[in-house]
Amino acid sequence: MKIAVLGAAGGIGQALSLLLKVQLPAGSELSLYDVAPVVPGVAVDLSHIPTGVKVQGYGKDNLADALTGCDIVLIPAGVPRKPGMDRSDLFNINAGIVKNLVDAIADNCPEACTCIITNPVNTTVAIAAEALKAKGVYNKNKLFGVTTLDVIRSETFVGNLKGLNPANLHVPVIGGHSGTTILPLLSQVKGVEFTAEEVASLTTRIQNAGTEVVTAKAGGGSATLSMGQAAARFCLSLVDAMRGENVVEYTYVETNSDDAAFFAHPVRLGKNGIEEILSYGELSEFEENAKKAMLDGLRADIAMGVEFVKG
Ligand code: LMR
Repeated sequence: MKIAVLGAAGGIGQALSLLLKVQLPAGSELSLYDVAPVVPGVAVDLSHIPTGVKVQGYGKDNLADALTGCDIVLIPAGVPRKPGMDRSDLFNINAGIVKNLVDAIADNCPEACTCIITNPVNTTVAIAAEALKAKGVYNKNKLFGVTTLDVIRSETFVGNLKGLNPANLHVPVIGGHSGTTILPLLSQVKGVEFTAEEVASLTTRIQNAGTEVVTAKAGGGSATLSMGQAAARFCLSLVDAMRGENVVEYTYVETNSDDAAFFAHPVRLGKNGIEEILSYGELSEFEENAKKAMLDGLRADIAMGVEFVKG
């Protein structure tokens, strides 16, 4: 398997690349691309770690080489939030970055699974879909918005609140990846009871968790290490699935549902990306109301992405 990280020299990109270097199956190839001149150095640095994963760095003029033959492409490239900003405030810069990178994917590895991390994810995934459509290579089973960070945060926060090991918890999170579009399904957490107050406060904390990091970093960016771990988990699940294992992850994908054109669902992954989009099951009254309240905002985020490419 050849896996590319586009934006590999950034905060997320470096953490993600390290986790992949030490966890991908031996024989895999890690292709690190960035416009930052440090990227060959990042690749050399990682290459000294003794695993069976080959690492190669590619600078700004070598995107095509970085992508040729890729099975999976992860995109964390772009600028992060500063305190006071919403993810949607990144649109003006990040939309063009994602569009250009996805155009290159279409030209060089149109069969690859593309995993978008760059914010605003609600919108950049729609941009990626339209860019791939415009090139005639869109496969809805191979495009993912990475929302795994919402899942791992939810598991951590529930574990901390209830004195449980988060590694043993499973918290579904549906919707999008911004503010109230992030909808944790606490009613479906097995073996854990919550009061109504706990549900309300945990839901708000999970929805604002990205902002919690942005505020704590005080102008130094947003989540990089936890996002790197989340994206690595998603990528490794995809690798396992492509090698024949039965894997389910929550991820933001194109759906045929009435909710929105893109919506995070539990998804069965397989050799060709999405094998099956699973139902997210029954919602509590609180969750149903929260879902209804956020749908218009999510649909508007998606429409903005479509409009960006179609004009
Ligand atoms: C996150 O959830 O931490 C990321 O989407 C980064 C951000 O801006 O919040």
